[in-house]
Amino acid sequence: MSEFPTALSDCFERIADDLVVRHWSVQERVLPDALIDQLGAICHALWHQEDLTPAAVGPAGEELIIPSIRGDYTRWLDDCPPTEAGAKFLQIMDDLRAALNRSLFIGLDSFETHYALYPPGAGYRKHLDRFKGSPLRQVSVVVYLNRAWLPGDGGELRLHLEEGAHDVAPRAGTLAVFMSESIVHEVLAANRERASLVGWFRRRPDNPLLR
Ligand code: OGA
Ligand code: MN
Repeated sequence: MSEFPTALSDCFERIADDLVVRHWSVQERVLPDALIDQLGAICHALWHQEDLTPAAVGPAGEELIIPSIRGDYTRWLDDCPPTEAGAKFLQIMDDLRAALNRSLFIGLDSFETHYALYPPGAGYRKHLDRFKGSPLRQVSVVVYLNRAWLPGDGGELRLHLEEGAHDVAPRAGTLAVFMSESIVHEVLAANRERASLVGWFRRRPDNPLLR
């Protein structure tokens, strides 16, 4: 585990508490501005170099590209040239993983993450992140990379909760975390490019404590 500033470790505790109580948490201005800007620049560079590919829906082996259901373009971080910013992001996520394991005992074992770019007009219809094809996903994380996002820009993450819809603006530095199995959500279309890093903490395939 690395040393991270108290503010970040406090934030991780708040996330763990929220996940226990209501299965989702949204924290604003969590990651350093400079890191967010570097990650945003990388995502936009990948987009302009046509190094992002249309994201698919459906289980492994049966993936389909259906832009009216899911319109983002992605690339796994593992598949990108290594960068200092990417390594820092992975370290912070590993610290979050350790904090969640300490507080929740949920045996999160690994993290997979991709850059995502939604062109204007693209969204992602209502879905769950844990499905037959990816049964190991426990906790979903989204970090938004969009500076100066304005209320009319759209592109909200809409969480469908028992008490109704809760919208999260994709503003730079906001971190959304939720249980992959239980929180139905969607991405509303934006009228400008919308960049993020989306990731999933996974459990070990053979963990007997978990379904
Ligand atoms: C996803 C997703 C949410 C967002 O990629 O599965 O739901 O706000 N993303 O980008
Ligand atoms: Mn999702």
